[in-house]
Amino acid sequence: MSWLDLTDRTVLLTGAAGGIGRAIAAAFDAQGARLALFDRDTTGLEATSALLADRHPAFTLDLAEGDGIAPAMEAASAAIGAPQILVNVAAMSVPRALAEVSEAEFARQIAVNTTAALLTGQAFLRLRDRDQPGAITNISSIAATHSVPNGAGYSASKAALTMLTRQLAVEWGPEGVRCNLLSPGLILTPLSQAFYADPADRAAREAVVPARRIGRPEDIADAVLYLSSPRASYVSGADIVVDGGFTQTLMTHIPRKRMG
Ligand SMILES: NC(=O)c1ccc[n+]([C@@H]2O[C@H](COP(=O)([O-])OP(=O)(O)OC[C@H]3O[C@@H](n4cnc5c(N)ncnc54)[C@H](O)[C@@H]3O)[C@@H](O)[C@H]2O)c1
Repeated sequence: MSWLDLTDRTVLLTGAAGGIGRAIAAAFDAQGARLALFDRDTTGLEATSALLADRHPAFTLDLAEGDGIAPAMEAASAAIGAPQILVNVAAMSVPRALAEVSEAEFARQIAVNTTAALLTGQAFLRLRDRDQPGAITNISSIAATHSVPNGAGYSASKAALTMLTRQLAVEWGPEGVRCNLLSPGLILTPLSQAFYADPADRAAREAVVPARRIGRPEDIADAVLYLSSPRASYVSGADIVVDGGFTQTLMTHIPRKRMG
């Protein structure tokens, strides 16, 4: 048995077609877990499935359509067994200044990035394997605590996800379900690759991260495995920031000579 003890554990994973979601799927697969993969991107889902030799069922699901969430999770539960772990990875971002973002664009980010995590969580709570502890990990962002220029409602939606997850930890903890946040920093994925197209931009981004590199989807997957595993059985309501130290660099932006 591996230290993580995830063999045969049942996992619902949203955003499985994306960069971080695919890496998380591969990491759980390598541990012998049984996954149900969700995304609205059918082609991307098929690519993730193919990468994992079609060992796990995949479900096309638009998380902006709240009514579709419970039936999709029921179908997944019938396919892999009652779920023990839920990981919410799917999210979207509208590249717009707050002065310009429309009500519909703002609302869609809240629906996908925040409300869907409540609805998948409710379905998980109802369907879950009550003989085993439950674990929910919601992928947030350092944008939940640091505003993103031209990120429209992305920061607000992730900040709301933070408080939602903390409250879930309080309300569902007594039922045996741990709920945690994982906040990635600068990670190179399809969502963010446009920011790295210019080598000078990439170098400038690497220079401000204490680890002196951009994060990989696998850096996030490793932390998700830990949070989902029995090794984290006393960790709930936490926010694990995986950013190479980037969010701790505020005081490096001001001149501060050594005194004495
Ligand atoms: N890449 C980064 O630098 C970074 C930084 C901080 C946080 N994050 C977070 O990590 C997570 C994964 O991001 P990523 O970089 O892999 O992005 P990505 O765009 O590669 O993946 C996101 C996935 O969510 C899916 N999705 C979007 N809207 C959906 C909807 N309505 N219904 C179902 N699926 C939907 C997309 O199809 C995509 O597969 C997100 O929650 C993101 O906010 C990413």
